[in-house]
Amino acid sequence: MNQAATDRRTADRTAPYGLEPAGLDAAMRRALALAALGPAHGPNPRVGCVLLDPGGRTVAEGYHRGAGTPHAEAAALADARSRGVDPRGTTAVVTLEPCAHHGRTGPCADALIDAGVAAVHVAVADPNPVATGGADRLRTAGIPVTVGLLADEGEELLRTWLHAVRTGRPYVTLKLATSLDGRVAAADGTSRWITGAQARAHAHTVRAQVDAIAVGSGTALTDDPSLTARRADGGLFEHQPLRVVLGRRPVPDGARLRGPGGELLQLPGDDLDAALRALGDREVRHLLVEGGPTLATALLAADAVDELHAYVAPVLLGAGATAVGDLGVTTIGEAARFATDDVTRLGDDMLLAARRIEPVSAAAENEIENAPAPTAQHGRPGRHTEEEI
Ligand SMILES: NC(=O)c1ccc[n+]([C@@H]2O[C@H](COP(=O)([O-])OP(=O)(O)OC[C@H]3O[C@@H](n4cnc5c(N)ncnc54)[C@H](OP(=O)(O)O)[C@@H]3O)[C@@H](O)[C@H]2O)c1
Repeated sequence: MNQAATDRRTADRTAPYGLEPAGLDAAMRRALALAALGPAHGPNPRVGCVLLDPGGRTVAEGYHRGAGTPHAEAAALADARSRGVDPRGTTAVVTLEPCAHHGRTGPCADALIDAGVAAVHVAVADPNPVATGGADRLRTAGIPVTVGLLADEGEELLRTWLHAVRTGRPYVTLKLATSLDGRVAAADGTSRWITGAQARAHAHTVRAQVDAIAVGSGTALTDDPSLTARRADGGLFEHQPLRVVLGRRPVPDGARLRGPGGELLQLPGDDLDAALRALGDREVRHLLVEGGPTLATALLAADAVDELHAYVAPVLLGAGATAVGDLGVTTIGEAARFATDDVTRLGDDMLLAARRIEPVSAAAENEIENAPAPTAQHGRPGRHTEEEI
């Protein structure tokens, strides 16, 4: 079961109210589980909030259910009021720094100030230039704020959103569906289906969680894909990602890509940075790229892949197109390496999910070497310590 599903089950099972005080870490874990109930797609981050009374007991909670709905803090304050609880003097435990801007809703920092909360604990500072400043606003109002409580867990939950907001480009997941010898088609070009039904069904659940799916124009013209997110019975998921074709050759009028599903967008892909920025400007936070080999190779060569989803079937082809072409790697030390995140069996096939290995700068390496040994609670030095910002 994936982490989001586990979090959801935990959140559903736990009766939060009236619990004995379990400490701020437990409250933040609960807030993270609540945040995971929000939609993985969409322009807004997944955020959870728990309100604790002065004795440390949970008195209210809330999470953000997607763009256009109340933010987590507002949802928690509404939950308190609906239970007849006065939020005055409570401690707010929030996974992301409360916002300081007027969007579709008012600033959450102001809502917490107006409600009279006594203190605020945050996992991750908000890097969004539009919304940041909530912690300062709270402090100016005399409310103490700490940032960095379970920061790693918060960063992990928000990784696609944080990446997109920090870089202006979507988080890119590259899907490869290959034979055991890394091929995506047989010698005659036939490729349906290398992987089995379970692997394909899984890939559709991933589609339903991303903001956009992209293929190169070669795949769009050869395979005539629909790029919709479909349930096992063939019906469409409620959320349909934006469909993106990278390349200059036009998508024909009768193509499935023009049929029911998400909006279709075509971008020239020769300047990948410009294409990714254009998607970032449209608030695409998570982009799933489904090939083909030419586009996959260009993205890998440009070091633009954040996560790999390799669906591998126990099938050997011996000839035919490979998933990835020449990356300019001439010796093993130059290999494009990823760090394994998860391995899942899907029927006869396997899904290997792996993440980009962030290059460590010389300064950071030096800092890690000279830092004190990590504590059991806070893991790697430097990033995990709870800090005042
Ligand atoms: N098994 C699998 O998982 C899988 C998945 C996908 C595809 N496939 C197979 O792969 C084959 C198609 O692969 P393909 O490599 O020919 O097509 P592709 O990678 O889908 O598309 C290649 C085209 O993408 C455009 N493009 C956009 N950005 C680019 C960039 N930065 N660099 C280079 N090209 C860029 C170019 O089109 P323009 O010339 O129009 O600009 C290029 O010709 C099909 O047979 C399909 O069945 C298999």
